[in-house]
Formats: sequence, structure tokens, C-alpha cells
Amino acid sequence: MYGEADLGNDFYDWQDREWEHSEVNRIDNAILPTLKKYKDLDKINQVMDVGCGGGVLVTALAKRFPKATITGIDNSDIALEKAKAFSKEKNALNTEYFSHDVASLPANWENKFDFIILFDVLHDLPNPTASISEVKRALKDDGVIMCIDPKVSSHHRKNIGDPNASFCLAFSIYCCLPNSLHKGEAAGLGVGWGMENEEEFLSSHLNVVEISNFHANECSNNFVCLKK
Ligand SMILES: C[S@@+](CC[C@H](N)C(=O)[O-])C[C@H]1O[C@@H](n2cnc3c(N)ncnc32)[C@H](O)[C@@H]1O
Repeated sequence: MYGEADLGNDFYDWQDREWEHSEVNRIDNAILPTLKKYKDLDKINQVMDVGCGGGVLVTALAKRFPKATITGIDNSDIALEKAKAFSKEKNALNTEYFSHDVASLPANWENKFDFIILFDVLHDLPNPTASISEVKRALKDDGVIMCIDPKVSSHHRKNIGDPNASFCLAFSIYCCLPNSLHKGEAAGLGVGWGMENEEEFLSSHLNVVEISNFHANECSNNFVCLKK
């Protein structure tokens, strides 16, 4: 049993800067065109960003879906404090934030969300099976899940010579792996879990309809999933 993992202020500052530089590219050129293939965007009323960090994605989605409620959840108080302040600063009134472990969502969130996104979160989870079961329970029957995760192979020899994999694996040792080790019978995944294992895992719980190159940054996959 490891101690509570919290990624800390510097981490969120860095991730939020990445988001602010690439918001249009990630959301308008990548996430929304893909989402549109599976869901009428006008029918999106409830969105959840799991592991919302500093709230840049939640705030940006709130502007794109002004009639919807965008819910950010995270189990880090530092992240939630930053996220609430950021949404307030940007006057994104249709946002809400909750401190939850995704492995244990509120009972009344059954069939609630039209769209659920996990951006750089799947490989961080200490309990991926309980987490994805909860995400599935919270999704409406015609809802869409996107898991965007680094493009690193589970077969580590295939990563040799790949600068993206080298960066992600090194980074993962200090941030993602401790996060995925921090609780109870932790899975201890990190980025080294890899995309082939992720595909197998997600396919055993959900209908993976697309694995696309997340072309906004070239170094991630977007696993698009529907309920089975
Ligand atoms: C790598 S950060 C990504 C943050 C954000 N999605 C982004 O793209 O900037 C992973 C986030 O997931 C959160 N997280 C990790 N495990 C979680 C869990 N079991 N339940 C809720 N949030 C979790 C962490 O606290 C962290 O904010």
C-alpha cells in the first residue's frame, strides 16, 4: 500500500499550459469531429471529464456546449482547486467539479452522461477494472467514451528508437506509475502498460469502435468506445 498520490502544482501548471497552447487543435480539430461521427452534438447535455486536472478541457468544452453541463471529476484536491478557479476566471458557468475516485462514482449517476472523456488518465488508474465499470454505468446507452492515451507499445522492443515512447516512459516513472500504485491492490500500470494491452482491456468492457491517431499531437491514440 502506497501513500496518496498527488501530482502537485507544477505538474498541473505544465499540463494546463500544454492545453492552452493546443486547445483548438485538440478539441476542434480532433475530439469534436470524431465525436460527431457517433453522436449528434446538439443532443449532448451531460459531459464528464474524468481526471480533469486543472480544468482547461472542462472549461473549453463548456464554451463549445453552452447548453450542456460539463462535469469534471478528479481525486486530487490541488487539481480541483485549480480547475474551479480556472472555470470561474473564464466565466464558464455551466461547469461543475467533484472530488471522486472514478472507481466509485455516486449511485445516482447511472445512465447520466452523453459523452465521457479520459484524457491521459486510463494508464494512471490504480483500479482500471472498477473504474471502467463505473464509467460504463455512468454512460447513457447511446453515449460515447473517449480514452486518449500515449502511443506507446506494450511490446517494449517496438518502442526502441521512438522518441515519443522514450519521453513518455521516462515521464511515466515519476508521475503515472506512482499514481497507478497509490491505492490498495493497485494495478501499477503507467504508460508502459501500452496500447495493445489498453485495446484488449477496453474491448473486454466496451465496444471499441475506433482507435484513431489523435492527430492533434501525433503521439496519442484516441480509443472511441460505445456501450456493448
Ligand atoms: C495525467 S493527469 C491528466 C489531467 C487532464 N486530463 C489533462 O489532460 O490535463 C491525470 C489526472 O487523473 C487524475 N486521476 C488519477 N487517478 C484518478 C482516479 N482514480 N479518480 C479520479 N481521478 C484520477 C489525477 O489526479 C490527474 O489529475
